[in-house]
Amino acid sequence: MRKINYLLLLAFVLTGCNFSQSPFGKIKDDLTRENLEFADQQLRYAFEAIDAAHEAKGSTPEELPSPRNIQPDGSLRMVRARDWTSGFFPGNLWYMYELTGDEFWQSQAMKHTEYLESLKSYRGTHDLGFMLFDSYGNGLRLASVPGYQDVLLEGAESLASRFNPVAGVIRSWDHNSDKWQFPVIIDNMMNLEFLFWASKVSGDPKYRDIAVTHANTTLENHFRPDHSSFHVVDYDVAGDGSAIQFHTHQGYSHESAWARGQAWGLYGFVACYRETGDTRYLDQAEAIARFILSHPNLPGDKVPYWDFDAPDIPNAPRDVSAATITASALYELSETGVEQGEYYREMADLIIQNVAKNYRAGLHEQHGFLTVSSTGHLPAGSEIDVPIVYADYYFIESLVRRERLANGLPVEPTDW
Ligand code: GLY
Repeated sequence: MRKINYLLLLAFVLTGCNFSQSPFGKIKDDLTRENLEFADQQLRYAFEAIDAAHEAKGSTPEELPSPRNIQPDGSLRMVRARDWTSGFFPGNLWYMYELTGDEFWQSQAMKHTEYLESLKSYRGTHDLGFMLFDSYGNGLRLASVPGYQDVLLEGAESLASRFNPVAGVIRSWDHNSDKWQFPVIIDNMMNLEFLFWASKVSGDPKYRDIAVTHANTTLENHFRPDHSSFHVVDYDVAGDGSAIQFHTHQGYSHESAWARGQAWGLYGFVACYRETGDTRYLDQAEAIARFILSHPNLPGDKVPYWDFDAPDIPNAPRDVSAATITASALYELSETGVEQGEYYREMADLIIQNVAKNYRAGLHEQHGFLTVSSTGHLPAGSEIDVPIVYADYYFIESLVRRERLANGLPVEPTDW
């Protein structure tokens, strides 16, 4: 039987199962408590902003279930389930439940998770890890909701259907077929945790084998000698499956280091080390961390510009999402027993302290987003220096990880 999440259990024990008086009083980590107080008010406000957006657009929550970002005209952009970011908002609500134990957050999280059920059979993207594992996955882990495991297992099968055994990778995108045969983006490393989980639960090693093969192929082809990564690698699946093009899509140039891509790679390889114990993944994660943290273009507050090679640094937009993803990954890396562990912890703390101090949204402003100044796709002119939902997700995840560490718990629970 699945074990109850330790942090949630601890929260219940410490508060005598009564959250009505002070849901935050027992949070040990000061920074987490202070930001949780903010998030509690801000995410309640987000529900009002979401209702207002539907009223203005004449849409329904079923059609556009999840908030994504703020548009240039100041409006809240709601997206359909098939948008790659749809799982982050329910994920934020599950993390609120994890930190507070408050059933209000569980019921909101369930509602927003279940709008996404149809994704289980969607085979048109590699992003199913983001979409389903952050929503249904967190829900299953924290509340063992009946039916969630079945949705996840079907979703993992859909993701696995995109694996090509000749190239040894999962296909990322189906768009731009005139440009790429079989595009694989570094972001795809983030969807492997979902496959590791599917093998553990189903007993079928297929998903894990696909994840390991994808990670190994990425290790071989996605990195430059300085350990920065390309964004898109194209594979010749009509031929021998070799890597044939090394491009960018969201970065400044094919040769540049797109900030969020470096963060995805770091997080993905730390997670692969956790799941396999293979030290090649740990070495790669450390090499990426070194690249990011020692880069001359990384600002003093450790919140990167959107691309480490952006031509207009220091006037280039920042990407807070790259910072929060990096911080969350560094918390896990700091606990792997590596020599530099303390340094990684200090850097993660510095990032989260700076985001909390200088990049937090105003209370009851910015449609209920928690953070500002993320950059989604600058070359397309979209999502530049705005609040974006996945920056918030990795911000709250970092707070959850800090609180776990404060309670002497592993950064990431693996026992469910
Ligand atoms: N995975 C898409 C992005 O990071 O923008």
